[in-house]
Amino acid sequence: MTTSTGLRPAARMSAIGTESAFEVSARARALEAEGRSIIHLQIGEPDFDTPAHVREAAKRALDDGATHYAPFPGIPALREAIAADVQLRKGVAADPKQVFVTVGGKGVMLYAILGLVDPGDEVLVPDPGYPIYESLTTFVGATAVPIPIRMENDFRLDVDELASLITPRSRVLFINSPANPTGGVLTRDDLTRIAELAVEHDLWVVSDEIYGRILYDGEEHVSIATLPGMAERTIILDGFSKTFAMTGWRLGYAVVPESLIPTYAQLVINTISCAPTFAQVGAVAALTGPQDDVEAMLVEFKARRDLVVAGLNDIPGIRCATPVGAFYAFPSIGGTGLSGAELAERLLHEAGVCVLAGTAFGGVGTDHIRISYANSRDNLSEALGRIGRFVEGLGRG
Ligand SMILES: Cc1ncc(COP(=O)(O)O)c(C=O)c1O
Repeated sequence: MTTSTGLRPAARMSAIGTESAFEVSARARALEAEGRSIIHLQIGEPDFDTPAHVREAAKRALDDGATHYAPFPGIPALREAIAADVQLRKGVAADPKQVFVTVGGKGVMLYAILGLVDPGDEVLVPDPGYPIYESLTTFVGATAVPIPIRMENDFRLDVDELASLITPRSRVLFINSPANPTGGVLTRDDLTRIAELAVEHDLWVVSDEIYGRILYDGEEHVSIATLPGMAERTIILDGFSKTFAMTGWRLGYAVVPESLIPTYAQLVINTISCAPTFAQVGAVAALTGPQDDVEAMLVEFKARRDLVVAGLNDIPGIRCATPVGAFYAFPSIGGTGLSGAELAERLLHEAGVCVLAGTAFGGVGTDHIRISYANSRDNLSEALGRIGRFVEGLGRG
């Protein structure tokens, strides 16, 4: 945009994308302000409160003076707790010095792209996938190469197809398991074959494991970093937002190969100096304290998942696979005669249900919508009723 003064944003701003959940939320809130009833199924955020012992730890930390800068990679107690947790839950042997505490898991993505990708490089990203991978890639003048993820393949990428997309310009591969927006999970066999490709083509891998503990039906979480040849090329992205219902605390972390410690150090120092100190004290309590709240959230998420999948499959024209992890459903809605974008728009305005179009996550999910079931069962039942009545009305109209 050019103003009358000739002042303008940098040209590179035309290459950045967005995360439409935030923009759609603002539109939904504007409708609510006009008195409309809207059920919010658009945002990927647990509706639970952060566990009480975590909040207490952060409150105490404030009173104890944790109001100053922390060391730039994070407070030692948290880096140690993360290294121990990563060993316990992912089987990854990491030294605390490989751990960087960031502002949200999003920080880890930003540093991976800024630190590893040159203009003209190619970055392989899941499609549908978390939109920020692509947005930041194009922002730095690189090309995002979509890896199609399809419902017919249980929302797992097809490794042969991935192999066909790799070129001499490929630099970084993003994987996300369990996945946003599909709830798909890569199997150990998938990950083994992906790891072989990464080694063969000398790719960095960013493994977004932010939903690694939100897994159902006894599914195991496998980190690609544990597979042969991967420790030196994998950046693990994880954080506190989803597992511990701590979205507003803005805490994520990276576990990086030794060779990337200086890269992450420079980028953290240049951008945030450090993540908030008292919040980090709370995060230590989250990792080392009782895990009952996490377990209880999982039980509730599973019940909601089952409610949503069954309810959606009862609606003519909608087909919904059962997500294996995370808290999203990504139903195919082509049978309604509308595209995902049309259905999302009309559900918001005509039925009072806010969901996202599949295309918010790339071009492949045109006939899908994303529903976040991080909402109460009462609200989910009401939303399913509204969606069902709306779709039925389409048939009559
Ligand atoms: C796949 C994925 N990765 C990372 C994030 C970033 O989360 P945060 O920055 O809150 O840690 C999100 C949030 O929605 C996500 O869905």
